[in-house]
Amino acid sequence: MLIFKKTADLQAHLNSMRQAGKTIGFAPTMGALHAGHTSLITQAKTENDVVVCSIFVNPTQFNDKNDLAKYPRTTAADINILTSAICDVLFLPDETEVYPADFDYNFALDLGGLDLPMEGAKRPGHFKGVVQVVKRLLELVQPNTLYMGQKDFQQFAVCQRMIALTQLPIRIVRCPIIRESDGLAMSSRNVRLTTTGRAVSAKISAILFEAQERAKTQPLKTVEAFAVEAYTAIPEFDLDYFEICDAKTLQKIASFEDATEVVACVVVKVDGVRLLDNVILK
Ligand code: PAJ
Repeated sequence: MLIFKKTADLQAHLNSMRQAGKTIGFAPTMGALHAGHTSLITQAKTENDVVVCSIFVNPTQFNDKNDLAKYPRTTAADINILTSAICDVLFLPDETEVYPADFDYNFALDLGGLDLPMEGAKRPGHFKGVVQVVKRLLELVQPNTLYMGQKDFQQFAVCQRMIALTQLPIRIVRCPIIRESDGLAMSSRNVRLTTTGRAVSAKISAILFEAQERAKTQPLKTVEAFAVEAYTAIPEFDLDYFEICDAKTLQKIASFEDATEVVACVVVKVDGVRLLDNVILK
């Protein structure tokens, strides 16, 4: 695997790949890699000649500076994981490469409200930072295809909209959620859980799957009431939100008939760690 810290070196290499007619797949990350991340690399590998992964803990998307400070940084282990996943190129920029002195921090897009509910409401400014960094990384890497996880459902929707609005000639692929054997969605933040917190966190997805089952026969409001009650009943859980929404607009809906694709998104705080998960109900 080639590792580039400088944009100019990365671009020189990728330009020569493009000139040789090779396609490029790209998976941006913030490191502390796990099997969820490597699944993106594996999928990109099956569809492209060259796979690029980036590791950059983007300060502009952290509204909570404590969360930024505590974000795990495990570059040496990450390099081993990417080498085993047969990633071709790792882009490992520092802040000045991503945000040069003349970077326009004020650039904003009308995301059609996708950035307002759920994570947008709970983490003001978060999606502005995500859009900033993903757009910048896409301009630097210029991939044919961008691979992102369903795990961060709203982030995927926001980035999809950003690509459409900016008319970047890039396809975006939504990759399935990779889970631990007990169902907990893999996350770089899981390492911050206590033993008790980690054990009980399996219930986050168990309740989502039960909601998915119930959605086959019960009305939306009944399913919602079941899930909210189930999350609230667990003493270790501090429910941030549970929302059933239109997967396209991310607006809450009142009935399953109100949208063609319906997603249930949940965030539970355990041991002070925010854990995200979601499931498609329809
Ligand atoms: P990070 O949390 O490191 O995630 C990088 C990518 O991996 C995202 O597309 C995310 O959805 C995906 N991912 C994480 N856990 C996953 C899992 N269990 N299964 C499948 N995919 C999973 O998301 C970010 O970084 C940042 O916001 C970023 C997009 C890199 C911008 O800074």
